[in-house]
Formats: sequence, structure tokens, C-alpha cells
Amino acid sequence: MNNPFQPFPVTITNIIDETPTIKTFVLDLNGNQFSFDAGQFIELTIPGVGEAPFTPSSSPYDKNKLEMTIMKVGKVTSALFSLQVGATLGVRGPFGIRYPIELYEGKEIYIIGGGVGLAPLRSLFFALMENVKKYKRIYIRYGARTSQDIVYKQQIPIWKTWKGVDIQQSVDVGDNSWKGKVGVVTILLDDLIGNTKNMVGVVCGPPIMMKFATIKLLEKGFDGNNIYLSMEKNMSCGLGQCGHCRMGKYFVCKDGPVLTWEQVKDIEDPFL
Ligand SMILES: Cc1cc2nc3c(=O)[nH]c(=O)nc-3n(C[C@H](O)[C@H](O)[C@H](O)COP(=O)(O)OP(=O)(O)OC[C@H]3O[C@@H](n4cnc5c(N)ncnc54)[C@H](O)[C@@H]3O)c2cc1C
Ligand code: FES
Repeated sequence: MNNPFQPFPVTITNIIDETPTIKTFVLDLNGNQFSFDAGQFIELTIPGVGEAPFTPSSSPYDKNKLEMTIMKVGKVTSALFSLQVGATLGVRGPFGIRYPIELYEGKEIYIIGGGVGLAPLRSLFFALMENVKKYKRIYIRYGARTSQDIVYKQQIPIWKTWKGVDIQQSVDVGDNSWKGKVGVVTILLDDLIGNTKNMVGVVCGPPIMMKFATIKLLEKGFDGNNIYLSMEKNMSCGLGQCGHCRMGKYFVCKDGPVLTWEQVKDIEDPFL
């Protein structure tokens, strides 16, 4: 087990441009023993700048490398975007709890992502695909602001050919290059029918998207225990000690970042 306070060095081996503001960083672990489960996050250090929490977007089964799909928003992410292949970063973790995928067996699973929120969900998707026969069907419903803002543009058409998977996408604002659906991601849930009480919904994206996706799933009859939400709160220690990430009685870094709707529903505006 790595010391959670002590970052270990990793090397950037590839940088993939996803959108004008999102890149996927492929990191070599330099032989360090590291593993994580889908849903857990790490703290990524940019030497001399600082650190920030990110959830790996690669498969937890891939033990040789770690991928992070990251949106440029501020100090740490801007510094990261200025780096080149070969640069050294630090990783500490993993932190938080995983998606309890054993509870998803035999069920239909709706993976609902908004924008860069598809990144942590890609890690879950890959984990589920390792034993795809255990699940009734895996649905991905993904929304982005425009067609330029879609991540994994080369991969999604390939995933659509995989057995047991059903993928639909929408963009908020259409353009000439987009032939698919136009509207917020929840429009992709409008025709969801079936034994919804027994289905699983996993949601990650901007707070407003998480809120309306949750409302939609509840309207459709999903059980609050079966709606899994990735909560993003400001974090510092990552270890349940500093209180930065407190949400009601939960520390998001330790009790989350994945919390069910049942856990957060009594917190005043849990999506703030
Ligand atoms: C558990 C967890 C997992 C995460 N996983 C990912 C991930 O896989 N990919 C990813 O891109 N991000 C992820 N994030 C968000 C990421 O941690 C932040 O974007 C990062 O900390 C921003 O650091 P910064 O120094 O660049 O920005 P700061 O300088 O801290 O912030 C600059 C400005 O950007 C705003 N800002 C901060 N975070 C965000 C955000 N997420 N979206 C929009 N505006 C923001 C701030 O309010 C501030 O105004 C995750 C966060 C958590 C808690
Ligand atoms: S980040 Fe310190 S308690 Fe969660």
C-alpha cells in the first residue's frame, strides 16, 4: 500500500486532445505498485504548483498505466496543460470508495454523463465490460454542450459495436456537423421504460446536470438506493481529516465521492 501522504512519481507518456479544453493524460507508473477501483480518485501533483483531485478514466484492470481526462479550469489544470510528454508528476491515493459493482449484477445499468463527467464513468464502463455477461444491459447516455465538446470521439463509435451495450448521445446546441439528437442529456431518458425500480443509474457531470438527471431517474421510478452520484467537493487531505469536503454527515473524500441519492437526499441542495 502506498503512503497516502506521499506522492509517487509518474511520467506523462501521451497527451490526447479531446476537446479545446479537455485532454487525456496517459501516465506511466514507473514500476510503482498502484491499483484503484472504479469510482476512487487520486491526488495529482504538479511539482512547484500544487495538487488537485481527479478520477482515473482508464480501466482499473490496466495495471501498467493510468489515464486522466482533465478539463482546464484554473491554476493546477492550466499548469498541467502546459506540460509535454516526458514531464514528471506525482500521484497519491487512491482515495474514497468504489462503485459497488457486485450490486449491479443481473441489472440494467444507465451510465449518464455530462461533459468531462464521462471520464470517471469510462473507468466504470471498462470495469463492467470485463464481465459484461454479469449485467443485463449497459446503457450510456452522454451529453455535451456542442459536438466539439464531446470526449472520446474516436472511441464511442467503437463502443457502440460492443455486445451488451447501448449508447446514445446528445448535444445542447447543434451545428451542421452534428447529425444526432439536440437537447440536454435528460432527453435521452425520455423513453426509458421497464422495471425501473430494479435498474441502476450512475450519474457524473456538472452539478446542474446531476440534479436534473437525478430528478428524471426518480420520476421514472428508480430507487434512490440505486442512483449513484459522483460528488465533487473541494478537497485537501483526501483522508477524512481536514473537513474541507464535508457534506452533511459525510466526508466526500472518505465516504464518497460516490454517494447514493438515498444518502444525500436530505442534505440541503446536495448539488451545490
Ligand atoms: C473526486 C473528484 C474527482 C474529480 N475528477 C475530475 C476528472 O476526472 N476530470 C476533471 O477535469 N476534473 C475532475 N475533478 C475536478 C478537479 O479536481 C478540478 O477541476 C481541479 O481541482 C481544478 O483545479 P485548478 O487548480 O485547475 O482550478 P482552481 O484554480 O482551483 O479553480 C479555478 C476556477 O475554476 C473553478 N472550478 C474548479 N473546479 C471546477 C470544475 N470541476 N468545473 C468547472 N469549474 C471549476 C473554480 O470554482 C474557480 O473559479 C474532480 C474533482 C473531485 C473532487
Ligand atoms: S478532503 Fe480532508 S476531510 Fe475530505
